Amino acid sequence: MTVGRERRVTVCADVDDLNHVAARAVVDSARESITARGRFVLLLTGGETPRGMYQLLASRYVAQIAWDKVKVFFSDERCVPPDDERNNYRMVRETLLSRVPTRPEDVFAIPTEGATPPELASRYEATLRAQLGSAASAPTFDFALLGMGGDGHTASLFPGDPAVRESAQWAVAVQAPAGIAVRDRITLTLPVLNQARRVVFLVAGEGKRDAVARVLGPEADQGEEPLPPALVHGLNGAEWLLDAAAAGVSSRRS
Ligand code: 6PG
Repeated sequence: MTVGRERRVTVCADVDDLNHVAARAVVDSARESITARGRFVLLLTGGETPRGMYQLLASRYVAQIAWDKVKVFFSDERCVPPDDERNNYRMVRETLLSRVPTRPEDVFAIPTEGATPPELASRYEATLRAQLGSAASAPTFDFALLGMGGDGHTASLFPGDPAVRESAQWAVAVQAPAGIAVRDRITLTLPVLNQARRVVFLVAGEGKRDAVARVLGPEADQGEEPLPPALVHGLNGAEWLLDAAAAGVSSRRS
């Protein structure tokens, strides 16, 4: 287990192996959290990478989690309707939530309609406060699953965006850089992500190799502005689960 701001890296031979390692991490944390606190507060992310792992949780590992004790939140959302195929909640619903007995009242999608993105972000922050937080402290997720884009963004915290420096609000609206699918987005911020008990990055594919090297490689922390994922450490450090292609190696190490 990681401590403080340490990073622990696991490289899996392939994506199938990676998905099993990640799913087992969720199962283990769910068991520990439910035993310790009676519930499991799970933060999920969008993108393509976690699809296979979500499908595994909903199939092979489904009986290993007490789904009626799981509360689900989201790291970020694209401002498109919930039935749009680019909507992160839609992807998580299709791959996982519609297939497991989570209670609907325990699933907290980021709203995308009926108000401006900053208002929608404030609403989600109010939801987090009501469900998990208090006026004084940020909510504590038991497990925060995150990904990383090839450009080095995580959640919808893009390199150089002022949202990366947000220190007060828990959720903010951002404009993704040109070329990113859906530019209007809502994202959780570092003060919240860094309250997670366990942070796990799930990263696969050759297109992530350069960004991985910039966060985890020998050249990391050398002068350059750190990429947003390098600033996410939760309460106990961050775990990085990579496939060999993202890591630029050909076998597992730990
Ligand atoms: C999003 C995600 C985002 C994602 C990375 C990686 O809405 O885009 O939440 O942060 O995790 O972009 O995405 P891929 O897994 O598709 O590479």
